[in-house]
Amino acid sequence: MTALLELDAIEAGYGKSQVLHGVSLSVGAGETLALLGRNGVGKTTTLRCIAGLLAPRAGGISFEGQGLGGLAPHQVARRGLMLVPEHRGIFASLTVEENLRLAARRGSRWRLDDALAMFPALAARRQTAGGKLSGGEQQMLAIARALMPGPKLLLLDEPTEGLAPVIVERLVALLQELKAGGLPMLLVEQSLEVCRAVADRHTVIDEGRIVWSGDTAALNAAKEVVRRHLTLEEA
Ligand SMILES: Nc1ncnc2c1ncn2[C@@H]1O[C@H](COP(=O)(O)OP(=O)(O)OP(=O)(O)O)[C@@H](O)[C@H]1O
Ligand SMILES: [Mg+2]
Repeated sequence: MTALLELDAIEAGYGKSQVLHGVSLSVGAGETLALLGRNGVGKTTTLRCIAGLLAPRAGGISFEGQGLGGLAPHQVARRGLMLVPEHRGIFASLTVEENLRLAARRGSRWRLDDALAMFPALAARRQTAGGKLSGGEQQMLAIARALMPGPKLLLLDEPTEGLAPVIVERLVALLQELKAGGLPMLLVEQSLEVCRAVADRHTVIDEGRIVWSGDTAALNAAKEVVRRHLTLEEA
């Protein structure tokens, strides 16, 4: 098996509280994995461990067969893992163009014009400050920023949260386009619909433990998993 990213029995938490209790998962080459779970079950904590923002107490994380243990966030990013954080992490006082230029890296196949071509909504707002964008535009900018250095794996933390349905649709189309272009993704989501539309496989986390994994057909059949471990969205 050629796993691109592999988490092996990760234990992590904050202070005295343990949040992750032996989380194992893998993302294959060219694959999109969805990580689903209710509020507060450890999805962001899992991404923080991968991105080097939180050191696991136990367990191992490897990318392209090499351990990421002990690397600082910028070193993890240099290895090609880019996190699009929950709160988007764009610079509010800088323009769209400045935000993108800052994220560019020599040798990347992504240039400013590529990013603007992929996100026409951003092209139209090129000289607008990040803080003045709508929620959907900010999410697009956050993703565009993460693409600029030419990532090998994109980590997305609830990209559709709080966005209007029509914007969610646009974002889903965009993620599908990135996927079709061969970019692997680890997508944290609470929307089953988004997971089904974008991911190849799905992993459900509950109270810091992986409780289920399967492909989209299996997810569609797993009514009990959805009822027990996810929201009642479509039970
Ligand atoms: N910096 C922190 N300090 C202390 N506890 C934290 C911290 N960040 C998160 N937690 C706690 O850890 C648990 C898991 O949080 P996490 O953010 O990983 O959940 P999540 O699955 O991403 O939830 P959400 O869907 O709300 O984003 C929660 O109980 C949360 O309150
Ligand atoms: Mg979260």
